[in-house]
Amino acid sequence: MTKESSVSSPYHSVVHSALTPTFSHDHWDRYYNLRYTVLRQPWQDRLGSERDRSDKEAAVVHVGIFDAARECVACARVEETPESSAAAPTYQVRYVATDDTVRGQGLGRKVMEAVEKCAADAAKQKYALSKVLILLNAREVALGFYEKLGYTLVCKTYLMYGLVQHYQMTKAIEL
Ligand SMILES: CC(C)(COP(=O)(O)OP(=O)(O)OC[C@H]1O[C@@H](n2cnc3c(N)ncnc32)[C@H](O)[C@@H]1OP(=O)(O)O)[C@@H](O)C(=O)NCCC(=O)NCCS
Repeated sequence: MTKESSVSSPYHSVVHSALTPTFSHDHWDRYYNLRYTVLRQPWQDRLGSERDRSDKEAAVVHVGIFDAARECVACARVEETPESSAAAPTYQVRYVATDDTVRGQGLGRKVMEAVEKCAADAAKQKYALSKVLILLNAREVALGFYEKLGYTLVCKTYLMYGLVQHYQMTKAIEL
């Protein structure tokens, strides 16, 4: 997959993993800033809570969409699940967010399409299969977004901050 590609002017997407590193320190700062601003700060969580020790693991792939000022406006990460196998390659998507100033412009869809493609590419390379199951835990407010993208609700999962209900959703993709 192309590591840096045009999304729609003035945005560009950057795909990063430890095996094919493309994020500079600046990319990381802005990527984490978006995660914090959208997914943690509204619940007064501490700065740093947006970072995950597994972010830098070899199997984890990050996608950031950046604007002309190099701000990160959309983000997501994806990795193979421990239960995944050659018979059923399975990948988990986490930390999906778009900046509230650019919502409704298709960037959430673009970042999801990018992580889905990363999962399919990884399955193709590892198992010679590009048919994969994508799992995610959707916040209640985002259920409609994922349904638009073809995800199916499986079950209620966990409550975050005592307020934010999550639901497992899945989608089978073949690229
Ligand atoms: C959910 C989120 C990522 C959507 O990003 P976005 O950039 O606005 O999404 P897009 O513009 O690509 O929308 C794609 C489609 O989904 C629809 N959509 C977007 N958000 C939606 C929502 N919350 N409910 C229902 N539909 C939604 C859009 O109308 C669009 O439909 P269309 O293709 O028919 O025009 C963004 O609102 C966000 O970051 N929310 C806060 C954090 C969050 O909840 N993240 C998900 C964590 S699980």
